[in-house]
Amino acid sequence: MPGIVIVGAQWGDEGKGKVVDLLAEQAEAVVRFQGGNNAGHTIVKEGVTYKFHLIPSGILYPGKLCIIGNGVVIDPKVLTGEIDGLKARGIDVSGLRVSANAHLIMPYHLMLDTAGEAKLGKLQIGTTRRGIGPAYADKASRVGIRVQDLLDEKILKKKIQVALEPKKLSLRPYERDPELDLQTMTEAALIYGHKLEQYIADTSRLLWDLLDDGRNVIFEGAQATLLDIDHGTYPFVTSSNPIAGAATVGAGVGPRDIDEVWGIAKAYATRVGAGPFPTELHDGVGEQLRELGGEFGTTTGRPRRCGWIDLVALKYAARINGLTSLAITKLDVLSSFETLKVCTGYVSGEGAELDHFPYHQSVLHHVEPEYTELPGWNEDITGCRTAADLPQKAKDYLEFLSDFVGVPVTLVGVGPGREQIVWLRRTEGVAATLEA
Ligand code: GDP
Ligand code: IMO
Ligand code: MG
Repeated sequence: MPGIVIVGAQWGDEGKGKVVDLLAEQAEAVVRFQGGNNAGHTIVKEGVTYKFHLIPSGILYPGKLCIIGNGVVIDPKVLTGEIDGLKARGIDVSGLRVSANAHLIMPYHLMLDTAGEAKLGKLQIGTTRRGIGPAYADKASRVGIRVQDLLDEKILKKKIQVALEPKKLSLRPYERDPELDLQTMTEAALIYGHKLEQYIADTSRLLWDLLDDGRNVIFEGAQATLLDIDHGTYPFVTSSNPIAGAATVGAGVGPRDIDEVWGIAKAYATRVGAGPFPTELHDGVGEQLRELGGEFGTTTGRPRRCGWIDLVALKYAARINGLTSLAITKLDVLSSFETLKVCTGYVSGEGAELDHFPYHQSVLHHVEPEYTELPGWNEDITGCRTAADLPQKAKDYLEFLSDFVGVPVTLVGVGPGREQIVWLRRTEGVAATLEA
């Protein structure tokens, strides 16, 4: 029965891929439940770096069932490219399964994403321009194209035609683009369909069987809590629900199938794209975090905005996801700082003290962080493998985080490698199995 959801507890790029890869060893399946190839999940295995955008981060275990759930939006060009790339590196992708009900990102979604951002000008969200928003918009408007449509030429063509009709005006700048031609687009999609056919399945049913059998299933979140379309910093968000509750909807299981929810958070904070980020640092310290942490986007290569950890936001993430565990990654990046700051409150534009994450956009935009200072440990921790190896001040830092947020820290990352982790506690589910 153990279903464990892995979610980003900040603004993304917390190291979800690494944690999923780690836990996947003891799991029967890994399932992505939302987002698309806006995600970039990195795994470093035996010194080799792998970056995944759509394929779940369990694929490095030969034959492991890796499911792309119904809640994901799939660019078939990217997915087939990712499959071919892995095969070329000798990776067995036979365990991949793709939900027939997942929606597709079509060429016009990419164009609309770019055009939409251009139209917003200074107010742009800074999307990854992967067509995510327009694809989810079509899904909600019931003119989306689904994976199953790739297998029927007549239905596919008709649906593309219907989807294109209301977009004619917005797509006018692209009207000469050959990719937009109905026949060309249909033919290209059919070729992707042929390539993907062997992986298409009734993925909910596969998951029910495993869960009913008591097997471990990992639900791999993409993006993160503060990018959630309902609960994040709207409108500077992604177009799906990356929070834990969405795992059930996007994978096709019930709430009772979830046993644990792990929030992944960096020991500091980063954000890519526009939007409020109360603890952002515009000084040399922010620059230092970016350099030390290698904070450049996995998907777009953009420099990530950096700042101190925001415990007000993390506490909010803990509640809204129902976190049972925290995994704190990149603790090693803080090793060279004399003093560390952690945000433990906000002061509003009107001078009011806030101890919670404000729901109102304009309040959030004007908050100033209040910091508690903690001493740094000033020594290399990349070789630490047990709690006893960690400097006391590093343990104190983690304890402060955990006490403030009210969620235990189970796992700590001390470097990008698969082996660069420290387990701090046993838990009931997957982690206990792993340690046994
Ligand atoms: P994801 O999108 O949440 O999977 O995270 P990304 O892969 O986009 O970004 C996380 C980056 O940090 C990757 O380059 C990882 O290899 C790296 N990383 C993960 N955990 C650690 C850690 O504990 N220490 C260090 N130094 N790097 C880490
Ligand atoms: P992973 O899974 C960090 C951000 C974009 C932009 C906003 C909307 O690697 O953590 P979108 O293309 O989704 O419409 O862009 O969301 N964003 C991410 N930031 N990590 C991600 O994924 C992200 N996916 C989207 O930068 O601000
Ligand atoms: Mg990422």
